[in-house]
Amino acid sequence: MTSSMILVTGGTGYIGSHACVALAQAGHELLILDNLCNSRADVVDRLEILCGTRPEFIVGDVRDAAALDKLFACYPISAVMHFAGLKAVGDSIEMPLEYYDANVNGTLQLLAAMRRAQVKTFVFSSSATVYGHPASVPVREDSPRSATNPYGRSKLIIEEILDDIHRAEPDWRIARLRYFNPVGADESGLIGEDPQGIPNNLMPFVAQVAVGTRELLNVWGNDYSTPDGTGVRDYIHVVDLAEGHVAALDYLTRKGGLLTVNLGTGKGYSVLDMVKTFEQACGHVIPYKIASRRAGDVAQCWADPSLANELLGWKANRTLKQMCSDAWRWHQGGQTHCRIQSDQ
Ligand code: NAD
Ligand code: UFG
Repeated sequence: MTSSMILVTGGTGYIGSHACVALAQAGHELLILDNLCNSRADVVDRLEILCGTRPEFIVGDVRDAAALDKLFACYPISAVMHFAGLKAVGDSIEMPLEYYDANVNGTLQLLAAMRRAQVKTFVFSSSATVYGHPASVPVREDSPRSATNPYGRSKLIIEEILDDIHRAEPDWRIARLRYFNPVGADESGLIGEDPQGIPNNLMPFVAQVAVGTRELLNVWGNDYSTPDGTGVRDYIHVVDLAEGHVAALDYLTRKGGLLTVNLGTGKGYSVLDMVKTFEQACGHVIPYKIASRRAGDVAQCWADPSLANELLGWKANRTLKQMCSDAWRWHQGGQTHCRIQSDQ
């Protein structure tokens, strides 16, 4: 009989599925809750292969208080990793209510259910978006925070709520993990990022051009004050990011408290660096054209990841080359399989 389990909300999604693999490798038993609004149930079959055992999987919504109470009553949950939420910046501007409901209300419902069940260890998917337009790089955790859109504001609000909860009830163990730009996939090619519709983010777009789904990449601006004029970001391999979650959980178990850390590499790469490295991974040219700047974009953003290194003993190790070759493997194999099934 399992003595304790980690509840992973959004565990069939991009980052959550990779976190499941890292957690299973570290010996944790898993219970996934996902409403499948942006992922597929067959991810669980793939996780069974990668984890060695099949995670428990419940299709459900984090806003469903009764379903949450049932989960906490039926399973020996000791901690929650909360990935479930909506993440498209543009959609959040068009549908703020839906975004605040899914992200803020969803998190509140989950936290309230946790308190009813006296489960007080919580790892939250925050984002570098809470730094708004960073005044300087590398960005440290004590940099000023602001929101430039409802998605970012939802993350900021949740960060504040977690602060308040910890102040009122210091026995909560809370991690606020601020992700920079997660890319890549598990090296097996079995799980990865599978965005619906036209991708907003650079890496899935580049990959879709590489496989021929899209004709060419629009590079949003080459007149920034960066080495080649294109935007610079801190791309982090999703498996490094997943391992950061295991380290954060381990830290909370040992030390408790409220942990707030950047999860990034500390290195910035430009759009054209990404294109070049992806071309090497896929072995052919990625056509692109320079287009005007995308509204709201910052020229450059990368993390100072030294606090995570100091507190968690964690560091992102995987190279840009690995990020691109692993993403390419996924786009050639696993994702095509998913697409074929979903088109039927
Ligand atoms: P994703 O969309 O792939 O995964 C989210 C999962 O949550 C999906 O499987 C979706 O079906 C599920 N979900 C959404 N709303 C739900 C609800 N109400 N109840 C239950 N399940 C629900 O996204 P991801 O890239 O894996 O992101 C995970 C988390 O990390 C999100 O909170 C996101 O805001 C945050 N984050 C992502 C990035 C990024 O670039 N991918 C960067 C910073 C932070
Ligand atoms: N870019 C292009 N063409 C594209 C897509 C992106 O040139 O088709 C450029 C952007 O202009 C930017 C860089 O590629 O310079 C990265 O863009 P992404 O959209 O991949 O990533 P962002 O850093 O702009 O934003 C992402 C998430 C946000 C989150 C932020 C920090 O989309 O939600 O990372 O975590 F807030």
